[in-house]
Amino acid sequence: MSDRLVISTGGGDAPGLNAVIFAVVNAATRKGWEVYGSRYGYGGFLDKDELVRLTPDCVEGILTQGGTILGTTNKGNPFAKPVENLAGEIQIVDISDKIMRGFLRMGFSCHIAVGGDGSLEIAHRFAQKGMPVIGVPKTIDNDLEATDRTFGFDTAVSTATDAIDKLHSTAKSHDRVMVVEVMGRDSGWIALYSGIAGGADVILIPEIPFDMEAVCSKIAENELHEKHYSIVVVAEGARAQGGEVISKGTGEIGRTELLLGGIGEWVANQIRQRLGKDTRSLVLGHLQRGGSPTNFDRLLALRFGAAAVRMAQAKVYDHMVAWVPPNMTAVPIAEAIRRRKKVDLESDKVLTARDIGICLGDGHAITS
Ligand code: F6P
Repeated sequence: MSDRLVISTGGGDAPGLNAVIFAVVNAATRKGWEVYGSRYGYGGFLDKDELVRLTPDCVEGILTQGGTILGTTNKGNPFAKPVENLAGEIQIVDISDKIMRGFLRMGFSCHIAVGGDGSLEIAHRFAQKGMPVIGVPKTIDNDLEATDRTFGFDTAVSTATDAIDKLHSTAKSHDRVMVVEVMGRDSGWIALYSGIAGGADVILIPEIPFDMEAVCSKIAENELHEKHYSIVVVAEGARAQGGEVISKGTGEIGRTELLLGGIGEWVANQIRQRLGKDTRSLVLGHLQRGGSPTNFDRLLALRFGAAAVRMAQAKVYDHMVAWVPPNMTAVPIAEAIRRRKKVDLESDKVLTARDIGICLGDGHAITS
């Protein structure tokens, strides 16, 4: 019997997921293997109708498309799934054995799980139950330690930079402060990259709890230099010194991650109150997850997909494909998800920001 491979996409979507699917389907088919897609994460392991046969014909043209043709979910942990009982109460049940039985019954030889740290942790738990799993790192947040980049990040940065570029002219016309909140969870990668590239005056990231005095000093310094507008980029996970991260709780039932958001508006209010400046805030939100992947993300996603199939051929299971320039390597999933990757405060990106006068909320480099 030929090898039969199944691919799933889990967690929040990211531009480039379809490019991974494209690469896996083409590379595996050329080896004579059959490829199936499981819809909405593990849906296809439970229900045949949620399983789709993927051939090069049916993935033709998807390489450039955002989203995922398989659908995804970030509230479907099979080890702790919320299920409504007959009394209408929500109970948390473990359906992982059922999924394992489905996987074996369908005769799969390998599961390629494309996801962020949450989905990869689930994949690792299945590997411990005996499922031959290979992980592919996906997240716009770029917060996976073992890989230099995750796909989706470059597209998110590009979208955020475009938005910041556009804010300059309206901020300048009105002599306003514009505060833009970007995604990134507990890491400041999107804020830092888009803020530097977009010419922000202030960038606030989770790695540096900020001081509103420092933020306002930078805006006041701009005024002294006859620059009557400022752009502030805030990562959704940033917090004031001694303050808390702002969230809307976990949102839906079955979700464990906090839904971050609101810090941009908080910072805007503080600026308005302290400086009396006309200030507006906006949240870029899911715009950062949408659209066609940049050529960088396409290439990275294709390389991840092809490398995952090579790992399947070599039977390197319970590992995640990682980009450690210039090579694609295999890293144990357990190691890959141990810690989230944070912005290194000694990195040249942080130094660049400080050198060109961007305030990072901690009072460095304020000169008047
Ligand atoms: O992890 C990706 C991400 O987009 C984060 O940046 C953000 O905090 C979160 O997902 C949003 O999740 P949801 O799609 O559930 O709103």
